[in-house]
Amino acid sequence: MAIRNHLTALVIAGSLLSAALTKPLDVRFSDDTDDTPLPVVIWHGLGDAYDTDGMRRVAELVEEVNPGTFVYAIRMDESGARDRYASFIGNLTNHIGKACADIAAHPILSTAPAIDAIGFSQGGQFLRAYVERCNNPPVRSLVTFGSQHNGISAFRDCAPNDWVCRFAMAILTGDAWSPTVQSRLVPAQYYRNPNEFNQYLEHSNFLADINNERVVKNEQYKKNIAQLESFVMYMFEDDKTVIPKESSWFHDVNGTEVTPLRQRRLYTEDWLGLRELDKKGGLYFRTAPGEHMELSEELLVEAFGDFFGPLNRHAGRSDPRPRLQAGDL
Ligand SMILES: *[C@@H]1O[C@H](CO)[C@@H](O)[C@H](O)[C@H]1NC(C)=O
Ligand SMILES: *[C@@H]1O[C@H](CO)[C@@H](O)[C@H](O)[C@H]1NC(C)=O
Repeated sequence: MAIRNHLTALVIAGSLLSAALTKPLDVRFSDDTDDTPLPVVIWHGLGDAYDTDGMRRVAELVEEVNPGTFVYAIRMDESGARDRYASFIGNLTNHIGKACADIAAHPILSTAPAIDAIGFSQGGQFLRAYVERCNNPPVRSLVTFGSQHNGISAFRDCAPNDWVCRFAMAILTGDAWSPTVQSRLVPAQYYRNPNEFNQYLEHSNFLADINNERVVKNEQYKKNIAQLESFVMYMFEDDKTVIPKESSWFHDVNGTEVTPLRQRRLYTEDWLGLRELDKKGGLYFRTAPGEHMELSEELLVEAFGDFFGPLNRHAGRSDPRPRLQAGDL
């Protein structure tokens, strides 16, 4: 009898606890007229970490533009130093898999009807891979800054005393297409040199797959990209770090010849759903002044205002940004 009562008490306590945990979220997100902003996830770039001052400032700005936004910085490790190391070294299949698992298991993100996403530099193509491979919860707006959607055709130099970078780049002795390099050096997995196109198609551990460039196309990738509300690509006008810089707009560059995305087979045959997305007005090519990742707060504020916020607030919100009226929110 005593044991029985004890168990009943535990069961009741347990259900109260789970009600307390889930109820506010259910209420917050199930009501169409609710103005709670969608959560935002951020994926940092090469050589950065999830817990730096810069990343914290970005999270603050998201919150300032849409108060009440929950922000989560994607990380490969709770240690900032190890997270930074993972931006250089690791197999991207595992990196994307970890981001998918962490987001799907997150108590707040997993109960949201959708999330918004910010990708800085390589974090942009990684978040696109999240959309294509997992998308649980689904992304509404994907905004990328200086990302390498069409890969890089040359590797950048490391700063002289950036030993993690130099250690990582030392993996690149000889053949960029070897399994050793493709499973360990992160930038090699989005290396795409038009002069070595066949090796790329055969050996690329990441980009050739997420860009659906191989003969057999992944229909789910296409479906998921087409389902986005907005895919916003910022290119830095004077980018000298990303080679070629037009990769940030998904353009193809062979030598000096630039083929805009809308003229590429990837688009005209719609391997990735980009054409379908464009037809519904969801594809944006935007320019940012300056060199790679020279971001101003004004520009970030504009992007967050245009594409983030509550679920029912009409996003896209067209270029140029419309003024919000009192009562809009
Ligand atoms: C990367 O990891 C995946 C999953 O563990 C594995 O299937 C793949 O072969 C690895 N890539 C390389 C180039 O080793
Ligand atoms: C790029 O241009 C080079 C030189 O003209 C040519 O050999 C190569 O086939 C081109 N690659 C692609 C992918 O068009």
